[in-house]
Amino acid sequence: MYQKYYRQFLQGAAESAASGAQPPLHMACHSHHYWPDVTCEAAQQYWTDSATLADSKWGPIFEQKIPAWQAAVARVLNLPSPDRIAMAPNTHELVFRLISAFDLSRPLRILTTDGEFYSFTRQLQRLEEESSVEVTRIHKEPYDTLAERFEQELHRGHYDLAYASQVFFDSGVAFPDLDGIAGRKPERTEFVIDGYHGYFARPTDLGAIADKVFYTAGSYKYQGAGEGLCFMSIPAGCTLRPLYTGWFADMAELENRADRVGYADNWLRFAGSTMDYSTLYKALAILELFERDGVTVEKIHDYVLDRQRRFLDTMDSAGHPLLNRDRLVHHDLENGHGHFFTFNCTTAQHAEKLQEELGSRGVLCDRRQQLLRLGFAIYHAEDETFQRVFS
Ligand SMILES: Cc1ncc(COP(=O)(O)O)c(C=O)c1O
Repeated sequence: MYQKYYRQFLQGAAESAASGAQPPLHMACHSHHYWPDVTCEAAQQYWTDSATLADSKWGPIFEQKIPAWQAAVARVLNLPSPDRIAMAPNTHELVFRLISAFDLSRPLRILTTDGEFYSFTRQLQRLEEESSVEVTRIHKEPYDTLAERFEQELHRGHYDLAYASQVFFDSGVAFPDLDGIAGRKPERTEFVIDGYHGYFARPTDLGAIADKVFYTAGSYKYQGAGEGLCFMSIPAGCTLRPLYTGWFADMAELENRADRVGYADNWLRFAGSTMDYSTLYKALAILELFERDGVTVEKIHDYVLDRQRRFLDTMDSAGHPLLNRDRLVHHDLENGHGHFFTFNCTTAQHAEKLQEELGSRGVLCDRRQQLLRLGFAIYHAEDETFQRVFS
């Protein structure tokens, strides 16, 4: 059904089958999602525009491509103001730009969880070396009380910044009621949702909280456009002045520089500097194609849920020592999970051995220490039983 968008990758699989090798069953889609074929032409278009237009390419990029991409992302997330979607090559740059807007000579209180991705975790640890920064980490588990515990603390402490994942990178569990918590946040607290494992995977409607949160995500994962294009939506009325600021942020005022560093009142407030826009071309091509064909995130999610149910059926009758319900980290598989399953193999050695074993059967997956992750995508065939994972 959706495989027609991935002919190049499927052709590679068919060729390996023809040569006697087992075609890969790609289940590391939560890490690197295969790119739809349309990205090839888009990448070539970027080359052609750069080669033929040279410096004049910036006009079409800033006047057409960026606004079209912002509008498409805004439709996916139901964001009211496309021009409040800032972009950068990675989310770290955007999040650090936000943090840099706080005055580090004064106390900075941050609330987060112990389940955030390395990018933020490491940066936070370094920041904690500054005496003014104080971090509170809420244990992500047990998941069924996470929402309550996080929200209670959010209102108890006087936090300047709260940061949490929409879907946890290590388990695939969706943070329960995160949008509700963000909607009820104290006014003084800036609230970041790390949507990296939610964007283009779980249907996400930010309409009600668009002006309360910064939502970050990237095109590398579920959208399949590759690295180099991340974004952060900015609440209306945001007057923060990032210390870590690039010359794009001041574009409107470059010709007429004031004494004080000025910021645009749109996404450029959080803009950095010159970047490679080839992924913008690729992402836009996918968004336009899927929109034309009516491939919505709701449909993608339904398709993936079906594949996950099939996997679980096969698993339940397989009796595998590690890939079973007891080892599967989950909270609410039907309504509160992302597009990959995590199995706790108890030790990194067990996980490594299992990953190798799966690899020998052509099943590609990844792991984080003792956690083995198996992902699902619309490029998995409708009749895929996932039997190969188990024997
Ligand atoms: C939850 C989460 N956030 C962010 C990122 C990416 O971080 P960065 O854009 O800083 O590379 C990832 C990458 O896997 C992730 O899983």
